[in-house]
This record gives sequence, C-alpha cells and structure tokens, in this order.
Amino acid sequence: MTNHDASELAVRTEDLWKIYEQEPTDVVAVAGLSLDIERGDFVAMAGPSGSGKTTVLNLLGGLTQASRGRIWIGNEELSALDGKQLARLRLEQIGFVFQAYNLLPVLSALENAEFTLLLRGVPADERHARVMELFEEIGLGELADRRPGKLSGGQQQRVAVARAVVGNPALVLADEPTANLDSATSTALLDIMERLNRELETTFIFSTHDPRVMERARRLITLVDGRVEQDERRAPARLGA
Ligand SMILES: Nc1ncnc2c1ncn2[C@@H]1O[C@H](COP(=O)(O)OP(=O)(O)O)[C@@H](O)[C@H]1O
Ligand SMILES: [Mg+2]
Repeated sequence: MTNHDASELAVRTEDLWKIYEQEPTDVVAVAGLSLDIERGDFVAMAGPSGSGKTTVLNLLGGLTQASRGRIWIGNEELSALDGKQLARLRLEQIGFVFQAYNLLPVLSALENAEFTLLLRGVPADERHARVMELFEEIGLGELADRRPGKLSGGQQQRVAVARAVVGNPALVLADEPTANLDSATSTALLDIMERLNRELETTFIFSTHDPRVMERARRLITLVDGRVEQDERRAPARLGA
C-alpha cells in the first residue's frame, strides 16, 4: 500500500485487467484500472455499452476473477482469500444488484429479499420485519407473497435492490439498478440508497445509463474501453464532510 490509510477506502484496485480470451482476438474488458473509492461514497459508473461497467462490478464483487492486478475491499485483498473467506466477505459485506435480478423463481418476493439474512442466521420475525419495512418504502408491501414470475420487470428489480441492501452491507454494487423503472420508482429507490448511504455510510457503486441517476452521484466515473476516461467529483464523499 502507498500513503493512503486503507481503512478510509471502501475499494481499491491496482492495475486491474480482465481479458476474455476468445477467437479471433481476445477482448480486453478492463484495461489497467487503478481506482480508489472512499468509504461512504456514492459513485456512478457511466460509459457506453461494452465499456466494462458490468465486468468491473463483477470483479469488485468477487464474481469474476481478474486476469491481472489487485483488489481490496476495505482492508481485505480479494485475491488473497480462499473460496470460503470470499463467500463470507460477500455475505457479510457486499450487496449485489444484478442487471438480470437473479431472483429465485420458486421463492416469493419476501423470501428472495430475506435470503442473505437467512444465511446469516437472523431470526424469521426480524427478517420479515426488516424486509417489509423496505418493501413498504418502495411500493412492494402488497406484493410480498408473489413469486418473481408474477411481478413486472421493475417490481423484480425492486426486490433485487431490497435483497442487496436489507442486510446493511458496507458496500453495495448495483448494475444498472434503475434500468427498468419508471421515474417515480427510480426516485424512490435512489432515495433509499441515499438514506442508507447517509445513515449507515454504506458505500454505493452503481453502473447506469440514466442521467437522473448520474445527477445524484457524488462521483461520476466514465469508462471507455475498460479505462477511466473521466473521473468527476461532484460533491464531498460524505455528507457533511
Ligand atoms: N463472458 C464474457 N466473455 C467474453 N467477452 C465478454 C464477456 N463479458 C463481457 N465481455 C466483453 O467485455 C466487454 C465489456 O463488457 P461489459 O463489462 O458487459 O460492459 P458494459 O457493462 O459497460 O456494457 C465487452 O466487449 C463485452 O463484449
Ligand atoms: Mg453492463
């Protein structure tokens, strides 16, 4: 580490590469990314389709292995962890919102959203109370018993966001979390994300194409061809900082 206090960082990457080997030519999805994300920041990643946003989020979440380079989540270096340690880090510290939601079709909205709490051994009544409080806030209160197949895309996306944040992880990684939402619902989701960010200092990193989402970010990182083209600080990393 250099002269930074690692504990102030939620995420650090050092010369991070992801190269997909394929014929006729390899695809360089992430090209030497060195990035420091401060704890408690609210960061949007923009950039054209194919610029590497999803790959970066997958790398930070430990879902994809880097070709080269290093990643720290807080003080933990991802590549130094074994499978079990990585699974625990993910369970305890990272909430992930996938672009394709990844909800389990046989579980209700409530059961999907409470899943990480279940894995952590939180008792059922507390799990339900925490999920339902969030559901009410994002307009899913009436839909808690429905399975994903009976929900619209936007409703499924809200369930996926609730699942990611309900355990109050230190870091939330969200891949285009508002892509299928109308503007009122997008606003409600962003309000919740901002509240968690403010009250619990949850660090958010989300990819987006949505100008309304970019507007509310405190730091806007634009990727092109797997590199940072622009890195714009728009407000202090923490409110009141
Ligand atoms: N599993 C994969 N195999 C091969 N190429 C991939 C894979 N995933 C992504 N890519 C390529 O990596 C580049 C970055 O993709 P991605 O991270 O999905 O970008 P974005 O999310 O910004 O649209 C693209 O050229 C894409 O085609
Ligand atoms: Mg993507």
